[in-house]
Order: sequence, then structure tokens, then C-alpha cells
Amino acid sequence: MTTTTKHTADRFKADFDPAEFRAEFPILSRTVHGKPLVYLDNAATTQKPRAVIDAITYYYTHSNANVHRGVHALSEEATEAFEGARDKVRKFLNAPDHREIIFTRGCTEGMNLVAQSYAGSLLQPGDEVLITHMEHHSGIVPWQIACQRSGAKLKVVPITACGELDMATLETLITERTKIVSLVHISNALGTINPVKEISALAHKVGAVVLVDGAQATAHMKVDVQDIGCDFYAFSGHKMFGPTGIGALWGRTELLEAMPPYQGGGDMIKNVTFEETTYNDIPYKFEAGTPDIAGAVGLGAAIDFIANLNMDQVTAHEQDLLEYGTKALAEVPGLRLIGTAAAKSAVLSFVVEGQHPYELGQILDRQGVAIRTGHHCAQPVMDYYEVSATVRASMAPYNTREDIDALVAALHKAAKILG
Ligand code: ALA
Repeated sequence: MTTTTKHTADRFKADFDPAEFRAEFPILSRTVHGKPLVYLDNAATTQKPRAVIDAITYYYTHSNANVHRGVHALSEEATEAFEGARDKVRKFLNAPDHREIIFTRGCTEGMNLVAQSYAGSLLQPGDEVLITHMEHHSGIVPWQIACQRSGAKLKVVPITACGELDMATLETLITERTKIVSLVHISNALGTINPVKEISALAHKVGAVVLVDGAQATAHMKVDVQDIGCDFYAFSGHKMFGPTGIGALWGRTELLEAMPPYQGGGDMIKNVTFEETTYNDIPYKFEAGTPDIAGAVGLGAAIDFIANLNMDQVTAHEQDLLEYGTKALAEVPGLRLIGTAAAKSAVLSFVVEGQHPYELGQILDRQGVAIRTGHHCAQPVMDYYEVSATVRASMAPYNTREDIDALVAALHKAAKILG
């Protein structure tokens, strides 16, 4: 099984062909309401290739057991698969040490872990946490909670009309009081790619640490945490062809070692008495309870799958889709694109005059076109653009220009229906 998958995936490395890549995803050949599925909701979740589905099935069929605790063969196999996946994540992010990789339920849990454990033990009244106006709610609410508990102040970097960070204001907002800067690598609502390397350098000048929310980045670009120079990087497996319920947080050893545990339970301890508990070493100190072992295996398979892609060609293909889609949508009467940053990933968020995004989404669905409507868990972005919701088409490497054509055709049909 593994050999066949590797052989198939290796084809992409030489020359990325979206059609061949697409054929690896069984769900993409189904129909919806009698129409071929056009899946353009990848910022919400990506579809899963056969390699990931097979890896999870293989794990449950052959090796299922609990990790770290058993001496029997299955437990050893499960532990090897789980820890092997951790090392795959390390390589994927170019992190220096596998002990710096903490498995989480997803990006949101990674963000909460940093906000509660790192920030919770550090923040004092008068300190400041800096976020941006384009954060997902998971980059806002954990910080509001941390600030409410500590008396620290939450500051927000404004955005410009095209959906870029106002870098001049950002520079004035990073001061000696700033303890943490937390921001999205790529905005899920706008597609903006933020200059996280430059911002990390600015934050470090005042001794602040930087947490990057990489949920929208890992499937679409090379991510190298050492090159970015941030201190924490969180992401979700399901947005990069892996399963839901698993993700990872990378953090620098010295920070993780100094941080208190996030949750208590099994595996995160060395010794427990009623009087005192000593905590386990990193990363286990942050992994209380039985982890999502099959999820980690699936994430590892997704990483192998991505590692076999020519990422530069993937990025170029998605940029082509973005350019093609931007031009095509400009021809749709009354359509206003939300988010036109110069550095942008393949996300097309828009509203159409006189058409409610939700109704529009339902009509598109009847044409087999799956997009997302709503505030995309980024309500402050909607407030900035004075809309309650947008329609969002978000691309993955398996999408093609034909998918964009289908979206545009469905939008024209919707215009007729909605008058
Ligand atoms: N955060 C996910 C999205 O952008 C759910 O759709």
C-alpha cells in the first residue's frame, strides 16, 4: 500500500499536474444534487487523499493500541507510528527538535495552549498583547480571556482597505510593554499573506514572543519556523489533507520547558502523590490523556503526501487560480471582492449587491458548487468592510480553472433566480 502511494505521489514532484493530483481524492469524483462536485471550501477543510484514508485504516486494522504505556507489540507499533508522526511534523516545519512538537486537537487548541500556559503565567497588569484586525476568532478570544485574567491590555493592528496590515501603525504598537504578538500567517477571510518574518524580527527587538496561526498556510506554501524566526507556530491537520481533530503546536524548547502544564492527567506526569506531582518532560507535559493516535498517523501521511509535491509548482498553480478567478469574478455584475492584498493566497471572498450570501450559497450548492458563506469566524473583518457575511471560494491544489468557470456560471444562474 505504502509503496503504491509513494510511487503515485512521486509523480507530482517531477511535474505537478492538478488533474493527476485530483485523482488521488476519492470524494472529488462524487456528484452533489446530480452535478459534479466543485469543492471550493478548502479554507474550512480540505479533502483527504487515498494515502491518508489508507494510513488511518491500516493503523486501526493492524496496530491499534494505546501509546507509551504497553510493552506488548501493538503498543510498541502504535507508539512508533505516533512518535514517527511527531518527527514528520518536525521535519515539515523545519523545527530543530522533535520535543518541540506538541500534538493538539487543532490550531485552536494550540492557540489556547499558548494563551493559557505561556501568557497565563507571564502577563501582568500593564503588559500588552498585540493581535491584528484580521485574526480568526481563535486568535482573538483566547487573548481576551488571558488579558481579562491578568489585567494585560489587548491591542489591535489595523488593516488597510485592501486587507493588508497597516505596518506603519504596527511598528508604533510594538513597544517595551508588548509581551506577545499573535497573528495569522494567512487570513482565512481575506487570503492576505502576512510578513510574519519581518514582524517576528520587530517583536524580538522589544523582547516579545511571536505566535503564528498557520492554519491557512501549511497546505499552500513552504513553512520553515527557523526561517520565520517566530517562537510558536500552530496549525491544523484537516486544512492540509489530514484528518480533523489533530494538529500541532511548535514552540521553542526554552519557552516550553519554562511553561506550566496546560491540562492535567495521564502521560503528562512523572510521579503523582496526593502531596505533590512532578511533571513529565516536553512535549508530554502538554499531552494529557490518550492522544488522537490515528489522527497523528493520518497527519503523518498527509505530510508525506505534501512532501512528495513540488510546492513551488503548487503555489504557482494556486496563484494562477487566484489571478484567473479574480478576473472572472470582476465580470459578475454587482460583485465586490473583499480582500485584494498584493500578497494573497487563493481565497476569493465577495459579496454581490442585492444578494444575501446565505441564499447565494444555497443556490450555488444546487449547482454542485461548495463554497462557504458567513463571517468565517472573523467577525471584526466583516465589521471593517461593513458586511455581515461574505461568500468565500477557497482553493486547493486539486482545483482547476474549470472549477472557477463552474463557480462563475453558477453565480450568473443565481443572479437570474434572485432577480
Ligand atoms: N476557520 C474555518 C474557516 O475559515 C472554519 O472556514
